[in-house]
Amino acid sequence: MTETIAEAYAKLNLFLAVREARPDGYHELDMVNAEAGLSDRLTFRDRVVPGIEIRCSDKRIPLDHRNLVWKAASLLLGDRPDPGIDIKIEKRIPVGAGLGGGSSDAAVTLRTLNQVRSLGRDRDLPELAAQIGSDVPYSLVGGLCRCRGRGEQIERIEIPQSSEPWLHVLLILPNVAVRTAYAYKWLDERGIGNECQPSALLDAIEKRNIGQIRDSLHNSFDSVVSEWVPQIKHIKAVMKTLIGREPQLSGSGSAMFLLSDQVGELSEVRDRLRDGLDWPLCRFEIAPLMF
Ligand code: C5P
Repeated sequence: MTETIAEAYAKLNLFLAVREARPDGYHELDMVNAEAGLSDRLTFRDRVVPGIEIRCSDKRIPLDHRNLVWKAASLLLGDRPDPGIDIKIEKRIPVGAGLGGGSSDAAVTLRTLNQVRSLGRDRDLPELAAQIGSDVPYSLVGGLCRCRGRGEQIERIEIPQSSEPWLHVLLILPNVAVRTAYAYKWLDERGIGNECQPSALLDAIEKRNIGQIRDSLHNSFDSVVSEWVPQIKHIKAVMKTLIGREPQLSGSGSAMFLLSDQVGELSEVRDRLRDGLDWPLCRFEIAPLMF
């Protein structure tokens, strides 16, 4: 292998219902996920020295066994592969944002190394993905999926394809990270209620009915995370005043999003937010949703 470059896309939870806690400490989930056109770029290169070497554009990210990319590489190649592997990660997906950036990086690592080193382990990849983290099995598949169990039971939702993306997302990315394990703890403490089903959302996506899609988005973390994270609470309140709509949380945050079938509408909202939101510091991205 000389050099292989692969993009790892951000995940968006259009629907995320947390159900009861299980004996193993995880929670039963029911999610509808899609991918947004915002990605990290991974570059894989063989190296003469044995071992796994990771480099990352974001200096806050650990480069050792705590990195999900390192875990993915070591599960496939062992801790000290010979020839070694050098993996460069250019981060564009914010960390701790609920956009599954680390999971997506890990999934791309599994897929790419399996292919470029001709390991023939295609059938093992879902199981290895689940060992790395609950969101990694989805990232292996990508696109529009219903994900249940701990997150590892994936069902691809096939809908009629169009050549052009028709649904777009404005991502509101405050510079705060939310620890997922804490968010589950807050939910447990508050008590998990009766949760709705994603059927109305799936029906709306099939019909491309943007109004119905917006009305049927759901996230169980929404109320607890808004309560505990002042930055998120503030952004929601400002958006309610400015545009009369609240954004939706992805995962347990901190990323929030608005959907539209008109890119122009999203750039207008972004400009109004840039002018009207004095705190916290936010990055904005407009991207197509990939089904
Ligand atoms: O699997 P992953 O490492 O991504 O999960 C991080 C944490 O989120 C877990 O340790 C657990 O506390 C919580 N979690 C959960 N139920 C899930 C997925 C994650 O309680 N289905």
